[in-house]
Amino acid sequence: MTQSSNILRVDASARKAGSTSRALTDALIARLAPDHIVTRDLTEALPFVTEDWVGANFTDESERNDAQKAELALSDSLVDELVAADTLVIGTPIYNFAVPAALKAWIDLIARARKTFHYTAKGPEGLLTGKKAYVLIASGGTEVGSEIDFASGYLRHILAFVGITDLTVIAADRQMMRGEAALDQALEKVTSA
Ligand SMILES: Cc1cc2nc3c(=O)[nH]c(=O)nc-3n(C[C@H](O)[C@H](O)[C@H](O)COP(=O)(O)O)c2cc1C
Repeated sequence: MTQSSNILRVDASARKAGSTSRALTDALIARLAPDHIVTRDLTEALPFVTEDWVGANFTDESERNDAQKAELALSDSLVDELVAADTLVIGTPIYNFAVPAALKAWIDLIARARKTFHYTAKGPEGLLTGKKAYVLIASGGTEVGSEIDFASGYLRHILAFVGITDLTVIAADRQMMRGEAALDQALEKVTSA
C-alpha cells in the first residue's frame, strides 16, 4: 500500500446516490486514510475550454494580460490541486464507451503545456512525476480492458502523458451481467490495492 498524505479525489459520476464508482472511491480513501484530502466533485460542472482560453494558454505567461490571467485562473487552481497531491484517486463511470464529458472537461483543464507536460526534442514529457494514481471504474455492460472500452486506456495514456505512470485500475464492470458481485469483487481488490 502506498503511504498517502495528500489525496486529490476526483468524482465523475453524475450520481451521488447509488453510485458504484463513488462507493469504490469511498472505500479506497477510507483504506488509504490520508492526512489531507481535496475533493473535486465534477457534478459541480467545469467549463469547456474556449477560444479565449486557448489564446491565453498559448500566450507566454510573462505576456498575459489580466483578462487572459483570469481566463486561466480556474485551470491554474486545478493544476495546483493536482501538483499538491501525492496521490490521485479518480472514480468514474463509463458513459457511452468513454469517460464522462465532465471528466474530459477536467482533463482539458489540467493537461497544460509548460505546466503539466512539455515537449523536448525527443517528444512529450510529463511533468507530474512521483505521484501514485488509482482509477476506479464502474460500467454496465462494457468490459474494462476490452476493445470497446475507450475509458481506461485513455485515462492510462493521458495520466502518463502528464507524468503519472504509477497507476492502479480497479473496475466494477459489467454490472448488468455480474450483478452485485461486480462491486463486491472490486471492493475486495480495493482492500489490497
Ligand atoms: C449516460 C450514460 C451512459 C452510459 N454508457 C455506458 C456504456 O457505454 N457502457 C457501459 O458499460 N455502461 C454505460 N452506462 C452505465 C454506467 O457505466 C453504470 O451505470 C455505472 O455504474 C455508472 O457509474 P456510477 O454507478 O458511479 O454512477 C452508462 C450510464 C449512463 C448514465
